[in-house]
Amino acid sequence: MIKKKCLKKNIPNHIAIVLDGNGRWAKKRGLSRSIGHYYGAMNISKIISCAINNKINILSLFCFSCDNFKRPQEEIDYLFSLPLKLLDDNKINQIVNSGVKLNFIGSRDKINKEVLALFDKLTQLTKNNNVINVNICVNYSSTYELNNLLNNKVTSINNNLLINEDVDLFIRPGARKRLSDFLIYQSRYAEIYFSNKYWPAFNNRNFNQALKFYSKQVRTFGGLK
Ligand code: IPE
Ligand code: MG
Repeated sequence: MIKKKCLKKNIPNHIAIVLDGNGRWAKKRGLSRSIGHYYGAMNISKIISCAINNKINILSLFCFSCDNFKRPQEEIDYLFSLPLKLLDDNKINQIVNSGVKLNFIGSRDKINKEVLALFDKLTQLTKNNNVINVNICVNYSSTYELNNLLNNKVTSINNNLLINEDVDLFIRPGARKRLSDFLIYQSRYAEIYFSNKYWPAFNNRNFNQALKFYSKQVRTFGGLK
């Protein structure tokens, strides 16, 4: 169980981020979309560190939606090759030692066995960590999650986890103002921060700007203040 470290200060307990803009980041530099995805994936650990430095308890990252399976197979294959490519034993040790607890949220359908085995291994190895809870959302969509809940099915890759903490701050880099079926229900009272920065370039400063924006909001949850 992750300690509630920051509810008193004006710091969000749960931050959700849509990882968007990899392709446009690469295109702007004359590079392939794959390179954009590579740098986007590399940015994940940097932003987890920012969240740890700011004492965030829960960070949910939208890495691949159910609807992203509509993309060309070549792009899908490249995206799913990244966890295996980037998470070697050395990197896995770093993650375990950093105190990050990783949860993989989404449907196991259509995800290859090697990737699932890696997700299961990381879940197992980090299950007693308590510095931050990081939900890696892959083949996740709110519509899918809610439909499954209505039908009494559990959707998560681990078969026992749903994201059941409300989102306080919803961040969307990538210059698009939409929620894209991410944590729709959990974000019903979230403060929403849109950034024009593409995900691979979204950095510590941008993360802190989002926190500053959040700290200025008056949250009433339908009541008065
Ligand atoms: C986000 O970047 C990564 C995934 C959705 C997997 P995009 O691939 O959506 O990049 P753009 O929006 O085309 O720039
Ligand atoms: Mg996009």
